[in-house]
Amino acid sequence: MLRLQKRASLLLLVFLLLPDKPFAGLSGSSHDFSKKNWSGGEICLPCHNAHGQGSVENAAPLWNRATGTTSYRIYSSSTFNADIAQPGGVSKLCLSCHDGISAIDSFGGVNGSVLISGDARLGNDPGDHHPVSFVYDSALAQKDGDLHDPTTAPSGLGGTIAEKLLVNGRVECTSCHDVHNSNEFLRFINTGGGVDGLCSTCHVSGRQRVNSSGQALSLARTP
Ligand code: HEC
Ligand code: HEC
Ligand code: HEC
Ligand code: HEC
Repeated sequence: MLRLQKRASLLLLVFLLLPDKPFAGLSGSSHDFSKKNWSGGEICLPCHNAHGQGSVENAAPLWNRATGTTSYRIYSSSTFNADIAQPGGVSKLCLSCHDGISAIDSFGGVNGSVLISGDARLGNDPGDHHPVSFVYDSALAQKDGDLHDPTTAPSGLGGTIAEKLLVNGRVECTSCHDVHNSNEFLRFINTGGGVDGLCSTCHVSGRQRVNSSGQALSLARTP
């Protein structure tokens, strides 16, 4: 508990000292909620609070939102080799808005009612976008045969996949997305190759259009 508090106050310091350096991209992006009528004009508060009471799920500092108890469909296909269960960690934080089941204006202990809609609504089947919340290690790469070894393969961002893209060794929403960044929040702005380049960072034969069950993930459908 003490360690958590220390971590929280350290981050509070980061918030105070570096208000915009790493977050310059947030302003004007789809995650800049300050002009929305449900946000009370706040830019950080819909996701973080600065007082250190929020549930952090050990995934984001000073988290200011409740994470729901929704059960999601767990991704499966006959060629999928990883062990996967319910989304956890930071992915659960994203789903607290993007499932379209939890209200985006539920933050700071207040229960809201505005639901996300359109393409940004992943519903209760987030695996249809891309599977998340599973360990991606050398053993998985070997078993799969079509994945780069994350401990040695470059991320394209200066460091290996494991160092730069995985969260506690896992593929999560933030493996591909940086939420404080515009540009669709994709982490691969400078590596070139667009979305296909992103897929080939981890998948040896590049973008997979369908899985073995013939299911086209929403990402694979994108032209
Ligand atoms: C849409 C939700 C959302 C908004 C809005 C948001 N953040 Fe975050 N923030 C996150 C998530 C999720 C993480 C953890 C995952 C990550 O680091 O990418 C995080 C991580 C952080 C971290 C830890 C360092 C880091 O980059 O990992 C800091 C510091 C931070 N946010 C500050 C801010 C500040 C300051 C604002 C307002 C200008 C802000 N955030 C707005 C969701 C948000
Ligand atoms: C406070 C609610 C909230 C949280 C938490 C949140 N988002 Fe969002 N996100 C939104 C809203 C609202 C939009 C805009 C939707 C629209 O334009 O219809 C959005 C848009 C996006 C987009 C589309 C960006 C674009 O420009 O097309 C991506 C990608 C995204 N979010 C990823 C994430 C990820 C990954 C996380 C977790 C790390 C996350 N979001 C957490 C509310 C949230
Ligand atoms: C393997 C990489 C990857 C993972 C993991 C991933 N995304 Fe995405 N996401 C993308 C890409 C690439 C796009 C942009 C698709 C395009 O525009 O072609 C995207 C687009 C989006 C959008 C914009 C709406 C749309 O469908 O175009 C949202 C919202 C989003 N992602 C949220 C999430 C959330 C929430 C998670 C975790 C549950 C997640 N993403 C996990 C790669 C990923
Ligand atoms: C950060 C690394 C990473 C990135 C980037 C990434 N993936 Fe994945 N993806 C994985 C891992 C690891 C698996 C698990 C493979 C397994 O266990 O069989 C996976 C699984 C999949 C599956 C399911 C395969 C099956 O057999 O069921 C599909 C489809 C897929 N990815 C498509 C994509 C597409 C399309 C992109 C680009 C938009 C992408 N991936 C980007 C790491 C990544």
